Amino acid sequence: MRKGIWQEFDGYPDIAEEIKVSRKLGGTVSSAVASAEEYIRQLHPDRIELSVSDIIEETPSTKTLRLVSKNNYLPPFLAGQYIALFLEIGGIRTSRPYSISSQPNQTGFYDITVRRVENGLVSNYLLDEVKRGDTLISSGPAGNFYFNPLIHKKTMVCIAGGSGITPFMSMMREIIECGLDRTVYLFYGNKTTDDVIFGADINRLARRFENIHYIPVVEEPSDGYGGACGFITRNLMQTVLADIEDKSFFICGPQGLYDFCLPQVEDMGVPKRKIKQEMYGAPPNVRDYPGWPDTIGRDDIFTVKVTNGPRIEACATEPLLVALEKSHVAVPSLCRSGDCSMCRVKVMAGKVYQLPGVPVRKSDRQFGYVHSCVAYPISDLEIII
Ligand SMILES: Cc1cc2nc3c(=O)[nH]c(=O)nc-3n(C[C@H](O)[C@H](O)[C@H](O)COP(=O)(O)OP(=O)(O)OC[C@H]3O[C@@H](n4cnc5c(N)ncnc54)[C@H](O)[C@@H]3O)c2cc1C
Ligand code: FES
Repeated sequence: MRKGIWQEFDGYPDIAEEIKVSRKLGGTVSSAVASAEEYIRQLHPDRIELSVSDIIEETPSTKTLRLVSKNNYLPPFLAGQYIALFLEIGGIRTSRPYSISSQPNQTGFYDITVRRVENGLVSNYLLDEVKRGDTLISSGPAGNFYFNPLIHKKTMVCIAGGSGITPFMSMMREIIECGLDRTVYLFYGNKTTDDVIFGADINRLARRFENIHYIPVVEEPSDGYGGACGFITRNLMQTVLADIEDKSFFICGPQGLYDFCLPQVEDMGVPKRKIKQEMYGAPPNVRDYPGWPDTIGRDDIFTVKVTNGPRIEACATEPLLVALEKSHVAVPSLCRSGDCSMCRVKVMAGKVYQLPGVPVRKSDRQFGYVHSCVAYPISDLEIII
């Protein structure tokens, strides 16, 4: 046989030998691969065992949980990334992502800052039940909502609503503590003055550092409040920013913030593709989305047969993932926003409504896979997990 050019490459005989042994025995045998895998596992662990070292009351409805690693090692993260907590509450195994609000340059703990959601399963549990010393299990840091020096401009326009402040807090803390050459204009909207998270900290940063500009916006201000009132509008942003040149836009918060502020930013001439958006979970009212079938009511119930598993009931306006978890069917999940594809399931029969814009891979779409965290049953279904 003619000698291939690859046979001249350094290390070729070792790799060829390893492939031969792997084919015979299965698995990987090279110590180089094993040590690389070990290194990758350290940086991107599946699970981290955390201990709650402190609980800080931020507002009447929000607390920061300070989490330390039980094995004294926390993987590094980029300011803006999140961890998913894996929990069992009332017999339901579930997960929720929370942005890390502490700065990545300190490696001793992750802070997550949790706001209470009315009737919310996990936020109420974290705020009311979790105590100092408790153990929590999380994913490694994940997500794409961070400053990328290759893409983004050094002047960041950050638009936050409610608990959407958390990734920006991590970014601002890092900028200040590491002396990064970046300027932040933070527009932070809340319903009432009491709802503002980290208000005193951000004010302090803005007073001391000329590269941090803070523009709080409150819908229903209390007496004596001196900041902007109402919503984060195009007019307000234009008054503060003067122009949109050489600026990158970031937005994070509940669905209402995206619905209102994205068109305002686009009206200023910023194309949507240039606005970096954080995910914030499945929307509260899926029936408002384009393409939702008019014939399907809010409380319609369908049957979902899981191949080699149980037959469960699922409400049309509840994500399939939530229905499966409530019926004690385990499905892996991370972002719960349609982005990471961890929760994909294959629909063998029946129809789901999948939120528009969900990045399902072409091959997945072809073979009937959907992201169950943002897929809703609109007929009886048969699925494979
Ligand atoms: C990347 C990312 C980062 C995040 N970071 C943060 C953060 O830093 N801080 C923070 O506080 N949150 C953050 N979140 C949101 C967080 O993950 C949770 O979604 C939030 O805490 C609510 O969870 P919950 O279990 O309390 O509410 P859920 O139980 O999930 O309920 C959420 C809402 O849905 C409604 N609902 C529940 N069940 C149904 C049903 N069957 N049908 C219809 N409606 C229903 C509830 O009434 C409630 O209004 C983040 C989300 C993402 C995706
Ligand atoms: S959990 Fe990430 S896509 Fe569903």
